[in-house]
Amino acid sequence: MGVSGLGYVGINATDTRAWKDLAVSVFSMEVVDKDQTESFYLRLDDWHHRLSVTASENDSIAYVGWEVPNEESLDLLAKRLNDNGVATVLGDAEQLEDRKVTKLYSFIDPASGFPSEIFYGPKLEMRPFSPARGITGYRTEECGLGHVVYFVEDYAGSIQFYREVLGFRISDYIIWDEGEKDVTFFHCNPRHHSLAVMPPFGPFKAGDFNHLMLEAKSIDDVGYAYDIVQDKGIPIMMGMGKHTNDHTQSFYIITPSGFGIEYGANSRLVDKEWAVKTYDAPAMWGHRAPA
Ligand SMILES: [Fe+2]
Repeated sequence: MGVSGLGYVGINATDTRAWKDLAVSVFSMEVVDKDQTESFYLRLDDWHHRLSVTASENDSIAYVGWEVPNEESLDLLAKRLNDNGVATVLGDAEQLEDRKVTKLYSFIDPASGFPSEIFYGPKLEMRPFSPARGITGYRTEECGLGHVVYFVEDYAGSIQFYREVLGFRISDYIIWDEGEKDVTFFHCNPRHHSLAVMPPFGPFKAGDFNHLMLEAKSIDDVGYAYDIVQDKGIPIMMGMGKHTNDHTQSFYIITPSGFGIEYGANSRLVDKEWAVKTYDAPAMWGHRAPA
């Protein structure tokens, strides 16, 4: 019993126009407007939406939504959060209508500090996903939306929370630069990791949201997007590269809200025979910061 995938992410944004342009021109997502507001949903598969961008006076993560398979598991997980000292609030009708899910509990993730939700029963759309330009689409389904990476204050305590309370399993570790940089990767479905956490280093602080990863069904979608990013002068966090642990080929951009999006393809999956490893570098090749 635990979470079964990254479901959705809510984003508070000062510049919704820049977000809409990024989502459409680079990521070929479908914008689903909310009535009479600057806020909007972003659709990228058969779910009603996976991202929600809300016009705000500050840029922040509004919430991270973790899927649970059914109501029984959801209620048990909420109880386990409560038993571990994490208060949960049952979502009201307005929240359920906004998230397009059947039931949810919200809580403050004690490890990362991010407003978080556990939910079940997302609303699916019969109408096929209609991308803004020709792409093969996003690899989601049993792998969930993608992954999120957090900087955390209490590294050991965070690992314990994600394993023992939310029910994640360890995928592997990457420790490099003589131990200065250390990341733990967690899975909850076939995706290599839906979550990774690390202690802060360099300019990063505990409580920073490092990036959201989205996976394309084809490396060509990623390649075309990489050209568009460079043509439009969108800030690049790390150029094209291939990760040592999940084998994802990807690049990272900086969003208008300041955090990163990793866009990749060809990620390998975990299975029941998966054996935990420790790597001494995050990239096989590439993933270099721009000069
Ligand atoms: Fe990543």
